[in-house]
Amino acid sequence: MRILVTGGAGFIGSAFVRRLLTGGAERVTVLDALTYSGNLANLAPVAGHADYAFVRGDIRDPDTVSRVMAGHDAVVHFAAESHVDRSIAGALPFVSTNVQGTQVLLDAALRHGVGRFVHVSTDEVYGSIDEGHWREDQPLAPSSPYSASKAGSDLLALACHRTHGLDVVITRCSNNYGPYQYCEKLIPLFVTNLLQGKRVPLYGDGGNVREWLHVDDHCRGIETVLRHGRAGEIYHIGGGAELTNRELVGRLLAACGADWSAVDHVADRKGHDRRYALSAEKIRDELGFAPEIDFTEGLAATVAWYRENRDWWRAPAAEAVAGA
Ligand SMILES: NC(=O)c1ccc[n+]([C@@H]2O[C@H](COP(=O)([O-])OP(=O)(O)OC[C@H]3O[C@@H](n4cnc5c(N)ncnc54)[C@H](O)[C@@H]3O)[C@@H](O)[C@H]2O)c1
Repeated sequence: MRILVTGGAGFIGSAFVRRLLTGGAERVTVLDALTYSGNLANLAPVAGHADYAFVRGDIRDPDTVSRVMAGHDAVVHFAAESHVDRSIAGALPFVSTNVQGTQVLLDAALRHGVGRFVHVSTDEVYGSIDEGHWREDQPLAPSSPYSASKAGSDLLALACHRTHGLDVVITRCSNNYGPYQYCEKLIPLFVTNLLQGKRVPLYGDGGNVREWLHVDDHCRGIETVLRHGRAGEIYHIGGGAELTNRELVGRLLAACGADWSAVDHVADRKGHDRRYALSAEKIRDELGFAPEIDFTEGLAATVAWYRENRDWWRAPAAEAVAGA
């Protein structure tokens, strides 16, 4: 299978590409604009692979997308503006990349007869849930410009399936953690600050609850959906560890040999969703997928990776933004 991976130089996309190329006989093209969060170093482990090609280009550019799309059997679409705090500071890049860019890709996939389009989305499209777990058929009520733009792209992808018959499948995942994550997101920001003896910022009362899934489990789930998911369906990739931000920060402090005196309590994020939680039953019952990486072990390995790969995170200027 010849697979086009958009956003393949980012955190999750690069893990997916490394997985595909080290795992089998797939041919992979990465299309990535290399924005601030895209980094070719994330793809260095597979850079010399015979079945790998990289194209620097913007998913909003129809000519580039059409040229690159030709000859591919499947698209796995990760490219996005991905950081909630940036979307609060300025929403337009989120609308143009996440909504318009997705439509450009869908149009090209349709024109070129692509056999499968996996659209990678997020639990944030549902908004906050106090108790229980969201199911795939529940309504969308996003709170931030980021999640609203992702919800918009999800709806466009489903509309392309219903109107034009494109074989679209959507995955929605909870918060990911693991190596190669740009240092503005909570775990790498806190770990890299703490490893340098710097202070870390915690939003509000720290009581916001997130479900954490290792990026390798997420990528295995996406591959499962790519190969076996049903057209027009949405699959949650959840079942990770549920923690308050306060509990998570306690673990990060311990892992980095610091204590609560290193934490600044900062004003809460605007529109901050209290809790996200996904039902993981559909993908388990239909496709036999369940996460495998234990959170305690995965987090320890992640902290160790940032400890051992200082050159990777020292290169880009890590901005101290407090979100997850
Ligand atoms: N990080 C998470 O916890 C999480 C959870 C659920 C879903 N997701 C979704 O997974 C996807 C990947 O997230 P991530 O954390 O790896 O993000 P990331 O910010 O690390 O990577 C995004 C990648 O997209 C590229 N990109 C951005 N705009 C582009 C454009 N206009 N054209 C081409 N490339 C462009 C960037 O250069 C970068 O390589 C996103 O769609 C995100 O919504 C992320």
